[in-house]
Amino acid sequence: MEQPVIELNNVVKEFTASGGFGSTEIFRALDSISFKLYKGRTLALVGESGCGKSTCAKLITKVHGVTEGEILFKGENVDTINKRRDILNYRGKVQMVFQDPFGSLNPTHTIRHHLTRPLLIHKQVKGKDAIEKRLNELMELVELPIEDLDKYPHQLSGGQRQRVNLARAIGVGAEIILADEPTSMLDVSIRLGVLNLMKEMKEKIGIGFLYITHDLATAHYIAEETAVMYRGRIVEWGDTRSILRNPQHPYTKLLISAVPDPDLPFNKLVDSEPDYSQSADKIRAISLKSVAGHRQVADNHFVANWDEAEIAALQKDKIA
Ligand SMILES: Nc1ncnc2c1ncn2[C@@H]1O[C@H](COP(=O)(O)OP(=O)(O)O)[C@@H](O)[C@H]1O
Ligand SMILES: [Mg+2]
Repeated sequence: MEQPVIELNNVVKEFTASGGFGSTEIFRALDSISFKLYKGRTLALVGESGCGKSTCAKLITKVHGVTEGEILFKGENVDTINKRRDILNYRGKVQMVFQDPFGSLNPTHTIRHHLTRPLLIHKQVKGKDAIEKRLNELMELVELPIEDLDKYPHQLSGGQRQRVNLARAIGVGAEIILADEPTSMLDVSIRLGVLNLMKEMKEKIGIGFLYITHDLATAHYIAEETAVMYRGRIVEWGDTRSILRNPQHPYTKLLISAVPDPDLPFNKLVDSEPDYSQSADKIRAISLKSVAGHRQVADNHFVANWDEAEIAALQKDKIA
C-alpha cells in the first residue's frame, strides 16, 4: 500500500472560550476526524460554513495543535516537528491556498517578487538563470503569460491571482496543497478553469489536494474521494461518484437537494423520502445527534449511523 503523505487519525479539536464569571466553555470543533491525503489524488472535504473544514487545514499546517488523536506526515507525528527549520521545510511541502486570492498577495509587489521570494527562502533553486527558468516553468504550468511576472496583483483578475497562488505553492516545493474554498470568491465563469488547473497539477506533477468546499457539486470535477462533514463530524465518505449517485446520510441528501445540477440524482430521492429541502432544519437537528458506528455502502463508500426512526417519522409526515 502506498503511504499517505498526510494522515489524520481520530482527531479531536476543542476550543476553549471564556464564559462569564471566570468560567470557561469548551467547544468541540472536530470530533474524531480521520482521513488520508495521497500524492496525485484529491480528497474533497465538503460541508457548510462552520462545520470545521478550515480547522482541519489549520491543524494540518500546525497553526493549532490537536486536542486528541494524531496527524502524521509520512508516518511521523507532526507534533514532533518543532525546530524552526523543520517547520519551514514541512510547511513548504504542505501548503495552504486560501479563498481570497487577493488577501495573500502584497499589492506593492510584482508577481515576479511573489514567486521569487519563496524560491529563495525554501532554497528551491540557486542563481539568477535558474530562478528565471523556474519562474518561466511555473508561469507555464499555471497557464499565465510570462509578461504577467512584471504585473502587480491588482492588474490581474481573481482567477489569475489564484493561479499565482497555486504557482507559488508549487514553487516552494508543495507535495500537498490544502485548497480552502479556492474558487468561492471567483466569478462562476472562471471557477471551472481554476478547478481544471488543479486537476492538471494533480495529474501532471502529482500534487495531492485537500479540496475544501461547501459546494458538493464541484467535488466530482477534481476529487476521486469525498468526505462530507457536518458540525465537526464526517458523516459520509469514500468514492465521490458513489456518494453523489447513491447518497445515504440524510445530511448528504440535504446537501445534494440544494444543488441545482441536473446530472445529480436528486429526482430519484423525492418520491419515497422526506422532502429534504423542505425539512432542512429537522434534518440538521437529526444529523447532529451522534449515533455510534458506521456501515459500508460499497467498496469505497461508508456512512456514519444516524437516527433512522426520526427520519422515518419525517417521511410519514410527508405522506400524511
Ligand atoms: N480559534 C478558534 N477559537 C474558537 N473557536 C473557533 C476557532 N476557530 C474556529 N472555531 C470554531 O470552530 C468551528 C469550525 O470553524 P471552521 O473550521 O472555520 O469552519 P469552516 O471552515 O467549515 O467554515 C466554528 O464554530 C468556529 O466558530
Ligand atoms: Mg473555512
